[in-house]
Amino acid sequence: MMEFGLARVLHVLGVVLWIGGVAMVTTVILPAVRRVATPEERVQLFERIEHRFAWQARVTTLVTGLSGFYLVHLMNAWERFHQLAYWWMHTMVLVWVLFTVMLFVLEPLVLRRLFMRTAVRQPERVFTLMQRMHWVLLTLSLLTAAGAVAGSHGWLWL
Ligand code: HEM
Repeated sequence: MMEFGLARVLHVLGVVLWIGGVAMVTTVILPAVRRVATPEERVQLFERIEHRFAWQARVTTLVTGLSGFYLVHLMNAWERFHQLAYWWMHTMVLVWVLFTVMLFVLEPLVLRRLFMRTAVRQPERVFTLMQRMHWVLLTLSLLTAAGAVAGSHGWLWL
């Protein structure tokens, strides 16, 4: 039982730091960067700021994922993935996979170079795309967190 409590605590702390950081970047930092910097400087300034957060996000994503799968294992809840009422279990895994691929594969290997190159020619477009991507991920993450809190405390909507 202690393991269950500990895994849950780590899971929620991971989510708080990770998704909280995504909310901060999306609603505060990106709009601020848009206001202070010229289109040419924006992408670089933002990359430099988010670079620091990306490390935090990598650690918290890892903690959330490991504790999450451990919870599924402890609860033996694999069959939930066959039930629509547990859509939030699917979106938890989806959000986690999207961020894991972004943080561990795409961002360091592809996106950074691609953004820097395109940013020289089309700075406005790249920045708008970044902002849009952050809003999409934040919205999906918040819907997921809402569904998971409601669902894991017995409020299933379907
Ligand atoms: C590999 C990915 C993940 C797995 C396997 C996973 C698994 C789980 C499990 C098994 C539970 C307990 C459900 C219950 O008690 O009925 C849970 C709770 C929860 N998860 Fe996840 N999760 C993952 C990712 C995420 C992500 C990305 C978020 C946020 C966007 C999230 C937010 C939550 C929240 C808010 C709770 C409810 C905690 C509570 O109210 O006690 N999880 N998760």
